[in-house]
Amino acid sequence: MCGIVGYTGSRPATPLLIEGLRDLEYRGYDSAGVAVMSGKGDLEIVKRAGKIQRLDDALDGGERTSATTGIGHTRWATHGKPTDMNAHPHPGTNGHVVVVHNGIVENYAELRRELSECGVTFSSETDTETIAHLMERAMDRGLDLASALRETAARLEGSQAIVAISPSEPGVLAAARLGNAGGVVLGIGEGENFVASDLAAVIPHTRHVVFLADHQFARVTPGAFTITGTDGQPVGTIDERVVPIDPMSALKGNYPHFMLKEIMEQPEALSDTIQSLVSVEPPEIRLPDLGPAADQLTRVNRVVLIGMGTSLHAAMLGRYFVEKYAGIPAEIDNASEFRYRDAILDPGTLVVSVSQSGETVDVLEGMRVARDAGCLQVTICNTEGGQTTRVADGTVYTRAGLERGVASTKCFTAALVALYALALRLGEARGHLDQETIIERIRALVPLPEHVARILGAEQALARVARDLSQAQNMLFLGRGGAFPVAMEGALKMKEVSYIHAEGYAAGEMKHGPIALIDPGFPSVVIATRHALRNKIISNIEQLQARGGRVVALVTEGDNEIEELCDDCIELPPVDQTLEPILATIPLQCLAYRVAIIRGCDVDQPRNLAKTVTVE
Ligand code: G6P
Repeated sequence: MCGIVGYTGSRPATPLLIEGLRDLEYRGYDSAGVAVMSGKGDLEIVKRAGKIQRLDDALDGGERTSATTGIGHTRWATHGKPTDMNAHPHPGTNGHVVVVHNGIVENYAELRRELSECGVTFSSETDTETIAHLMERAMDRGLDLASALRETAARLEGSQAIVAISPSEPGVLAAARLGNAGGVVLGIGEGENFVASDLAAVIPHTRHVVFLADHQFARVTPGAFTITGTDGQPVGTIDERVVPIDPMSALKGNYPHFMLKEIMEQPEALSDTIQSLVSVEPPEIRLPDLGPAADQLTRVNRVVLIGMGTSLHAAMLGRYFVEKYAGIPAEIDNASEFRYRDAILDPGTLVVSVSQSGETVDVLEGMRVARDAGCLQVTICNTEGGQTTRVADGTVYTRAGLERGVASTKCFTAALVALYALALRLGEARGHLDQETIIERIRALVPLPEHVARILGAEQALARVARDLSQAQNMLFLGRGGAFPVAMEGALKMKEVSYIHAEGYAAGEMKHGPIALIDPGFPSVVIATRHALRNKIISNIEQLQARGGRVVALVTEGDNEIEELCDDCIELPPVDQTLEPILATIPLQCLAYRVAIIRGCDVDQPRNLAKTVTVE
């Protein structure tokens, strides 16, 4: 949710922090602030409600200060409205410590009461301020910054990521990761170091990173860092990695929005993902990061797929792949429900978590439930070293590059390819697929990126349909079979970025309620491609039209019969049946983008949303 960045080195800290916050703005964008400190410990805190530009304007670029250490924060409000006062960083009463925080202090009311009784006056409505006061009181008792953070951490309930500085320790950053409320990554530079919520803020400066694990603490100076556990003892091994992300992929290039750029990057994202997961010659399902899970797939007799948002929709299609190619029962569950249900799990169950970021708190908590039940776990993740990859027995990485648009696009289609490859591998391990079928299934992937490129090349043709749809207040997206999850995803994209109310339904469900809403002002987008149970879908289209509903259909090229029935048609190239839903996704993403632009919406930072949801 919130984005945290910290810097210590010899360069001016403020511009670096602002740049880092811009890189993290997709995590939260209702207010932002920085606290910077000179080598002598002179402290300056500036924070503003609103987008980072307002903070930047207030700082006037920040070049003028001599501060070379600092922390910054971009907020997605949980406790307290997005005002200047509630924006982070938060100082203790005497400014002896300043903190930025991501997560929720669940016992904050109790801590606030306790601190108030000791005479502490609060200047914000946030839960975070309790951390600043507790740390300050610990430092005033003589503890150093890192020890004060460890002591304070022990008093906090809930999951948090925290970074703090103190004027009494110039050049020092203290950081903590407590639970699953958000990652903390250290960026190791030369004579300078970074701390951030995720890689986006670090990779423009260094690709050498260390991810903090749960309940690890870091003390970072320009030339060194130490990582300890809750007992203050250094951890045994430090997993320093070199991340393979091209910093240029974090830039918008010639595109007006990240969402459009990322939609357009799909041919490459799919091609890179396919190449990393399978080989055509010799035909092989590689999945190079399955690790210890690889040898245990034979014992799997059931699969449960979990995720949230777009990743949940990917999981829904993943179920079809698993049932079809591995021949074993598969279920999907929303991770936030799964973690609180009494889910029936046993060591024969493979839990597949899908998470672009690897950080979504409900997914991580769902994985904890699965681990406690002794399940084998594989995660589908787009973030090298993301937290889900650290919890799972094995990972299937998607190679989509950094995704910055809040509405996920390229990571969805890349996750579908990853799930398809995992299902094939399961089918192979369990002896459900013969070699000939495996070869045929691998080959089916090869033309996919080219087909996607073709659809994207013709996407201007969607302009008129988008103009018409932009007038609607409500929309229905319908699909059957593998197209059902895609209909759900099409509706989600539309509502996320255009704020038009849209619902995705299994087309067979249409008569059980949604059809009551249909009138000439309530359009439907129907996935009616060759393999999407076409004849049944034709009946659905006729029923919609009989009620005066306007219908836009996605059809297979040359399907004149459906074209004649509908108000508008969007053609897709004929492809392999199982992979057709991946193609059907592309025009729906483009439509959502175009409709949002026509309606003047901020597509990269839709209101109230954040890309990575690290609080419940
Ligand atoms: C948020 C984002 C969505 C994303 C979902 C799951 O809701 O706005 O775009 O699909 O989180 O995120 P994950 O990183 O776990 O895939």
